[in-house]
Amino acid sequence: MLKVGNTVNFTPLIYAIMTTEEREIEFQAKIDNGQKIEPKEWMPENYRKQLIRMISQHAHSEIVGMLPEGNWISRAPSLRRKAVLLAKVQDEAGHGLYLYSAAETLGIDRQTLTDQLLTGKAKYSSIFNYPTLSWADIGAIGWLVDGAAIVNQTMLARGSYGPYSRAMVRICKEESFHNRQGYEIMYELANGTEAQKQMAQDALNRWWGPSIQMLGPSDAASINSSETMKWNIKVESNDVVRQRFIDRTVPQAIAAGLTIPDPDLKYNDETEHWEIGPVDWDEFYRVIKGHGPCNKKRLSDRQRAEKEGEWVREAAIAYAEKQNKKMNSIAA
Ligand code: ACO
Repeated sequence: MLKVGNTVNFTPLIYAIMTTEEREIEFQAKIDNGQKIEPKEWMPENYRKQLIRMISQHAHSEIVGMLPEGNWISRAPSLRRKAVLLAKVQDEAGHGLYLYSAAETLGIDRQTLTDQLLTGKAKYSSIFNYPTLSWADIGAIGWLVDGAAIVNQTMLARGSYGPYSRAMVRICKEESFHNRQGYEIMYELANGTEAQKQMAQDALNRWWGPSIQMLGPSDAASINSSETMKWNIKVESNDVVRQRFIDRTVPQAIAAGLTIPDPDLKYNDETEHWEIGPVDWDEFYRVIKGHGPCNKKRLSDRQRAEKEGEWVREAAIAYAEKQNKKMNSIAA
């Protein structure tokens, strides 16, 4: 029993005598009332597992996502573009850190999560298994990939788990900047020389399909959605989020003078939505099973980075230990 000021908190006592079924009913009522769940509160084991699965996949995506863009830092076409890209890639590392920290509040440590990524056990977003062949690809990633991520993440910011939803608020602000810089690159190329326009169109042709796929399988095929939506981890389905991304992006392509590579694309006046042709789900499943164009390279690059960074981690630990000793001797 906890004493908070002059009031006594009976919650731990009540929880001790509740059955799991009663706890689950109370938990669901909190979710249905729109209450946030915080780390130390009781939660169903599967709620915890679903969150660790999603948050860690998300964190890994941010970290692996630095690789295709990092590829262009040394080749950015101007100092301004280089500074912007550097800042953006650093932001992605920061997103990974907030997300690993959010996952840690659920009782799993970061090294375990990192090991899952490095051994190929953990998933990360399919989209980062494609190569960045030209400078326009950097524009396409910011515009399309970060655009899709924002639409998904503004939805996740309304989710039920406090630390994850709050991480999303900050991440979305930074993603908005990423999205604008990407669109700016594409717009300028699309309105530049004929060769630049072709470069932008080629990037859009290659990134459009994977960007549509990255928002997850169709609702009918999404195995986790029933549970994650029951618990408001996701407050909207994959298809709803995908449609919002399409509706927002098609007019941007038109404004830039670019063509969405989908012969079936049409605007439905009645529903007021853009309708797309069939999604290549075979490609999606191939990529998430490890057979995309860059899966092997992404994993080996991360493994190499982990090895090369070993001395930095050792030095940081030694420094922290030294500081602790110093503080303890001052306190003694
Ligand atoms: N890439 C890799 N795997 C994917 C993808 C994808 N784009 N979409 C779905 N999957 C996986 C799921 O992880 C799941 O596998 P698992 O059960 O082994 O974990 C399987 O495919 C079936 O999918 P769903 O049942 O629909 O699962 P879920 O709802 O978790 O997936 C989504 C959809 C959109 C990825 C959701 O999980 C999500 O919002 N995740 C958090 C955000 C995120 O990770 N974003 C990554 C990009 S971040 C960025 O771009 C910077």
